[in-house]
Amino acid sequence: MKNNNNLKVSIVMGSQSDYKTMKLAAKILTKIGIKHEIKIISAHRTPKRMYDYAKSVDNNNIGVIIAGAGGSAHLPGMIAALTTVPVLGVPIESKKLKGIDSLLSIVQMPKGIPVGTLAIGEDGATNAGILAASILANNNPSIKRRLNSWRLKQSKSIKKYPK
Ligand code: RP5
Repeated sequence: MKNNNNLKVSIVMGSQSDYKTMKLAAKILTKIGIKHEIKIISAHRTPKRMYDYAKSVDNNNIGVIIAGAGGSAHLPGMIAALTTVPVLGVPIESKKLKGIDSLLSIVQMPKGIPVGTLAIGEDGATNAGILAASILANNNPSIKRRLNSWRLKQSKSIKKYPK
């Protein structure tokens, strides 16, 4: 059984080129004060690394996985097929199709193996971090407090009137 106080978020991505987007997930997790790790794992270029990683998450105190991928973007779905830890998919904005390819690949998982899909690109990466925090907060009052205080700060930063 996992210790809820020690659960971390695992951020994985298909390529170094995804990092400029996926670092936003790490940034928000750091802000909220949530433990996380970051790895490059490609479903098609490093299939063994992907398999070994997915089979080890249960024993590594990982509570949520955030997986970013672009193009045919099968990484989130493949990882989700190998573990029951929740997987949040971030569609990376691709050069040719602006990330529509990544979005459709990740969001259109056939029934049986779900992947929670976020928006394309940086907003999706940031929201994946916030959503991962919400998931962990369900069983961790200290994360819940920090998430609520971050949300309050965000509300206070929104001015009532335009200049
Ligand atoms: C996917 O192919 C990666 O997730 C990345 O978004 C895309 C392009 O990868 P690179 O050619 O930049 O390594 O697997």
